[in-house]
Amino acid sequence: MRVEVLGPREAKDLVDQLLAIWLRAFAQPPYYVRREELPRVRRMFSRHLSERGFRLAVALDAQAVLGFGYGFLRRAGEPWTDAVARALRPSGLSWWLQGAFGLVEFAVDPPHQNLGLGSRLHDALLAATDAPRAILTVHREATALGFYRRRGWQQLGQLPASAYLILGKRLDPMAPPGPRPV
Ligand SMILES: CC(C)(COP(=O)(O)OP(=O)(O)OC[C@H]1O[C@@H](n2cnc3c(N)ncnc32)[C@H](O)[C@@H]1OP(=O)(O)O)[C@@H](O)C(=O)NCCC(=O)NCCS
Repeated sequence: MRVEVLGPREAKDLVDQLLAIWLRAFAQPPYYVRREELPRVRRMFSRHLSERGFRLAVALDAQAVLGFGYGFLRRAGEPWTDAVARALRPSGLSWWLQGAFGLVEFAVDPPHQNLGLGSRLHDALLAATDAPRAILTVHREATALGFYRRRGWQQLGQLPASAYLILGKRLDPMAPPGPRPV
C-alpha cells in the first residue's frame, strides 16, 4: 500500500474509483448518502479539478484505490466559501478563509478504516499544499470530528441552521495566527 499525492490531470482518471469509495464511506451514519447523489458529486468533482491548488491524496494497493482526500485553495465567489465566510464574519474569523486550502472530501473504504490509512492521507494532503491554513466543514455527529480534533483542527463556527461545524487548522507556524477561535 502506498499514498500518493496527485494533481488534476491524474486525478481525473480515478474518478470512478473515488466515487465508489465516497458512496460506501458516506452511506454510513450520519450522512446516509444514496447512489442517486452520484451524478451531482461527479459534476462537483469535475468542477473542482480546475480550481487553483487542487491536490488529491490517494491510498493505492496496486492500482486499487483504498481511500482518498482532496481539496483546493478556497476563493471568494465559490458557494461553499461564501457560505462559510458569512457564517464566520460576525465572530471576526472569516479571515481564516484567506488563502486557505479547503479539504473537500475525505474517505477511506469501510473495510480499510481504522488501520491508519486516513491519518496517512490527511498528513500527505496537508503537506502537499503551500497554504498557511486549512479549513473544512464536518457533520457534528461524524466520527471524523474526533479524528480532526486529535490532529489539531479547531472549531471556528457553525453553518447556520445546519449540523455542520466549521473547522480550521494552522499549517504554517510562521504565518500570522490571526484572530483566535474562543
Ligand atoms: C474519517 C476517515 C477518513 C478516517 O479514516 P481511517 O482510515 O479510519 O483513519 P485512521 O485509521 O488513520 O484513524 C482512525 C482511528 O483508527 C485507529 N487506528 C489508526 N491507526 C491504527 C492502526 N495502525 N491499528 C489500529 N487502529 C488504528 C485510531 O483509533 C484512529 O483514531 P485516532 O488516531 O484519531 O485516535 C474514515 O473514518 C471515513 O472514511 N469516514 C467516513 C467518511 C467521513 O466521515 N469523512 C470525513 C468527512 S469530513
